[in-house]
Amino acid sequence: MKRSIIKSTGRFVPDHHVSNDDLAKILDTSDEWIRQRTGIEGRYWVKEGDDVGTSDLALEASKTALDRAGWEPADLDLIVFATMTSDVYIPGSGVILQHKLGAKNVPALDIRQQCTGFLHGLELCDAYIQSGKARKILLVGAETQSRFLELTTQNRDTAVIFADGAGAVCIEGEETDEEIGILASVFHADGNYAGVLKAGVPARKSGPIMNAEVLAKQEFFPYMDGKTVFKLAVTLLPKVALELLEKAGIQPEDLDMVVPHQANLRINEAFRDRMKIPEEKVYNNIQQYGNTTGATIPIALDELMEKGMLKSGDNVMFIGLGAGLTWGGVIYRLP
Ligand code: UT7
Repeated sequence: MKRSIIKSTGRFVPDHHVSNDDLAKILDTSDEWIRQRTGIEGRYWVKEGDDVGTSDLALEASKTALDRAGWEPADLDLIVFATMTSDVYIPGSGVILQHKLGAKNVPALDIRQQCTGFLHGLELCDAYIQSGKARKILLVGAETQSRFLELTTQNRDTAVIFADGAGAVCIEGEETDEEIGILASVFHADGNYAGVLKAGVPARKSGPIMNAEVLAKQEFFPYMDGKTVFKLAVTLLPKVALELLEKAGIQPEDLDMVVPHQANLRINEAFRDRMKIPEEKVYNNIQQYGNTTGATIPIALDELMEKGMLKSGDNVMFIGLGAGLTWGGVIYRLP
């Protein structure tokens, strides 16, 4: 049977570090508030004025992953790019990355699923591999959220959370009788909650994408009803985790590591408590990176691999929830 195996990982964040105290200088917040409510201690943002976009961060993470897999860009059958902060509105960043990599003629696909973009990407890559449509795939999650944030007190809830970064994985289809690779994936969506986390451009009633009215209303900045998203996350994530475990045919105690989306440390702690999973089995790095949306999970996976915290046979659950509303995850067994 064909199995989808993660051959290698890579990550990249800009070198410009932004501390909570830095933010407190430009809007009404404090290091204490941000740490207590979110767990975030600092984040990396591209520098204002630098000509750097999401594809540039993705390029660095991708080069590392390709290098570690021993693959050339020309070896790829497909590039899948998960981002909600593409370099330009049209086209998506997938083709821009493809060009920068020099992966001539390799098809490139963008996924617009926000915080669950990379997770959906894992399922999509698995489907391509299972169907025989692709064997070697580069899957990237990358964001430059800082370019989209309004750094004012009015929008401080989003300003302090979101951050920039990229993570990439090389996924290969392998023929084997062993039960390894992607074991299960489960996803849900509820567009009833589309308004709780959104950026309103192009606005439905505004006519041209950008006009004086849209500019005046500043609807292009992200809006988040944080409390509602928080409550939905702590309710829906444990439920979908149980669905995932059942589909993979394993018990919670069989999990060796959970890599949750890094939206808020308190969400991940509540998830851990509800699932009764020991602290050391839930990986968090939001403290250092903030919420890099589509990039949180591949960045965390790359760190885990680098630190030697995963071994052959380990069962890893990747799980998340975000704008849409979309939520779900993947269970992966290391070869
Ligand atoms: O990855 C995408 C998915 N997103 C999420 O999962 C986010 C989920 N939600 C959250 O993480 C939290 O709701 C937040 C961290 C965004 C907000 O935390 P909260 O505990 O829900 O705070 P709140 O929105 O209820 O605000 C409490 C108070 C308010 O002041 P008053 O009305 O009590 O006077 C806010 O104005 O905290 C104020 N506040 C802040 N104060 C200092 C909101 N943001 C900030 C801030 N600094 N950055």
